[in-house]
Amino acid sequence: MNVNMNPNSELEQSIVSVPDIVQVPENFLSQAHQFQEIMMMYTCAIREVKTKLEVLNDELSVRNKRNPIEMIKSRVKKPMSILEKLQKRGLPVSLESMMENLDDVAGIRVICTYVDDIYDVAKMLTRQDDVRVVVVKDYIQNPKANGYRSYHMIVEIPVFFSDRKQAMRVEVQIRTIAMDFWASLDHQLKYKKTVVNADEIGEELRYCADVIAETDNRMLQIRKKIEEQGVVVHS
Ligand code: GTP
Ligand code: MG
Repeated sequence: MNVNMNPNSELEQSIVSVPDIVQVPENFLSQAHQFQEIMMMYTCAIREVKTKLEVLNDELSVRNKRNPIEMIKSRVKKPMSILEKLQKRGLPVSLESMMENLDDVAGIRVICTYVDDIYDVAKMLTRQDDVRVVVVKDYIQNPKANGYRSYHMIVEIPVFFSDRKQAMRVEVQIRTIAMDFWASLDHQLKYKKTVVNADEIGEELRYCADVIAETDNRMLQIRKKIEEQGVVVHS
């Protein structure tokens, strides 16, 4: 019988290394479970804020025959992006650190029809007594140097679970269809990092952002002119 008794044989090595591969690090399962539970809490927080926005939109569409909100998008930050952001900021990589330091784990993007709808929606949401405003960044009044425009808020809302009430933070970005169009393309173009004439392209993008903002304002003026004539503008 040709049995290889050499302890360094490939077969022997693979048998020996199997337990190393499948060995579960201490606390791995409980940490994974904890992570899943916290992500579920962020998903619930998104649902709460989204419902508030949908209620406002439904109410206004009955009262004013016009929807101020075109669309609501939402997302929970991916584990890799959470890790990258914590590391980039030199923060501890832990669930506690994530909950304490990152305000955009839960994100909602509200796409409005006109610029004034953005401020109406923001006001109606934040005056609700269970919504606490943590930070507001108005990149419409103060656009970023590259032309980016949007109204950002970090809000904190209570979410009621079976045994406790948990305050959860949600990043709400509110912008017009036009601002969203620009931001989406700007985001895509950011991936093309190998461009040589980056300054020129940056200027071009900035110009487009300004043209878009001008158009947004003109569209609002058109709507107002029509409304002044007593005509109801539907959407
Ligand atoms: P982050 O570390 O990116 O979260 O920045 P911040 O904490 O200073 O927040 P800020 O309010 O400036 O931006 C948060 C989010 O707004 C980003 O994650 C993007 O979704 C969006 N945003 C901000 N600036 C730009 C931009 O120049 N272009 C695009 N496309 N999106 C932007
Ligand atoms: Mg962010």
